[in-house]
Amino acid sequence: MSHQVSVWRAAQLVGVARGVLQQQVRAGALVLSDGMVSTEALLRLYPGARLEESGLLERVAQIRDEAFGRRVRERLLPSQEVLAQRLFAQSQELADVRLHLQRYHALVIGLQKRTRELFSEHPADPSLKELEQQLTQGLAKALATESVDFLEVMDDMLKVMTAQVTVRPSGNQFLVEGHANLLQSGLHSGLKLNYGCGNGSCGMCKARVISGEVTRTQHFDYPLSETEKAQGYTLMCCHTAASSELTLELLEAGGPQDIPEQQLVAHVRAVTVLAPDTRLLHLQTPRSHRLRFLAGQSVSLGWHMPGQGDVHATYPVASCPCDDRNLLFFVTRDGSDSLAQHLFADDIPAGAAVTVLGPTGDFVLADGHRPLVFAACDEGFAPVKSLIEHALSLDDAPSMSLFWLATRSDGHFFSNQCRAWSEALDPFEYELVSHDDVMAGAQQIAHAMRADLFDIDCDFYLAGPQDFVRALHDELRAAGVPATQIFSSIS
Ligand code: FES
Repeated sequence: MSHQVSVWRAAQLVGVARGVLQQQVRAGALVLSDGMVSTEALLRLYPGARLEESGLLERVAQIRDEAFGRRVRERLLPSQEVLAQRLFAQSQELADVRLHLQRYHALVIGLQKRTRELFSEHPADPSLKELEQQLTQGLAKALATESVDFLEVMDDMLKVMTAQVTVRPSGNQFLVEGHANLLQSGLHSGLKLNYGCGNGSCGMCKARVISGEVTRTQHFDYPLSETEKAQGYTLMCCHTAASSELTLELLEAGGPQDIPEQQLVAHVRAVTVLAPDTRLLHLQTPRSHRLRFLAGQSVSLGWHMPGQGDVHATYPVASCPCDDRNLLFFVTRDGSDSLAQHLFADDIPAGAAVTVLGPTGDFVLADGHRPLVFAACDEGFAPVKSLIEHALSLDDAPSMSLFWLATRSDGHFFSNQCRAWSEALDPFEYELVSHDDVMAGAQQIAHAMRADLFDIDCDFYLAGPQDFVRALHDELRAAGVPATQIFSSIS
């Protein structure tokens, strides 16, 4: 019998990205009913997801060895308490179903017995004969051994390990895995959640539980009022899902305009040499004061040089908002950037305090389900890296392509990351282009894009010097790409 699962769950069950399933929905290969997918349709599309129906012990062995087993093992388990609560809820549901089944069975047996008695009293009545036959055949069919829907079994198993949260009013969904709290899980899924301290003291991550259960993961100081408690409010940073399914009502940012300016003091965790002229600056924020930003945005950094005053510079954040405590920046040797000069002179040691002010900028991912194309020149890779990591968290884009132009010999200072994305993700492709002339390099990228990307409906994200961005923008517009599908950041 077919069973309905959400697109998130369906993607988990067959081991593909959610964006790939959404593309199947748009192509008409998979039909959604109230946002749900039937396991029958899923198996038709992905027959490899069916486990061999060959006996329990063999199936257990297969679970250990096959792709689904791998997906299960890759998932982190929640704490014992959470696991126990979810198992208890599932066992309770199972016990209810068993009880109902027993009662229905007793009812049918009673009806069958009574019908037989009536028929023996009135053998000439054809409707009694027909009724008795119908009951006997129906009972035989219900008791017959029929193969179960294995996707349903897998779904039940995943429900214990990973809870699914639905957000109202947006309808967004995310999964809660391992020991993560609700806030961390939502941010890892790329949602633009409202929050502040991340440790239970500001109250900004407040959400209302509409259905399901939550359980506390850490102590919190923020005093929820009695009314708020009665209305089901909880703090997402201090709770996780105790039930397999949870519906929360909460505020999400619509765009950069909803992200407030923040100021905090972070500390240098490390400065790493990536190339002779590029360093990776890794800042870490305090646990109780994180930076809320959107992928692709920039911040201003300030450092106090004893005896020489303050130096400031603005850089795009090169990391994902889902890891809001660890902020990464690519800093290049630049005579006009005094902070960069101090960094290259090794004046800024690990542990140094750096003021972070921001975020600013609107080079952020647009809502939508189109394939994503990124083009970066030199350090334009920083905001693009952040956008790619955010897109990976959202798991929504059917495919991603990256073109990275380097205008100097050591310009592809993070190419290992591109290779890692490409090896780990089917729908990710990249091309590294080298040319010391920005315009010629941009033309080379436009040529490569024209080969297979101009004709399909993509969103294009361009980041780098003005000449690079303008040249590519003009090429895209000339090829008929709507202006609303081109997003630019000039460095
Ligand atoms: S983010 Fe401050 S209380 Fe949760």
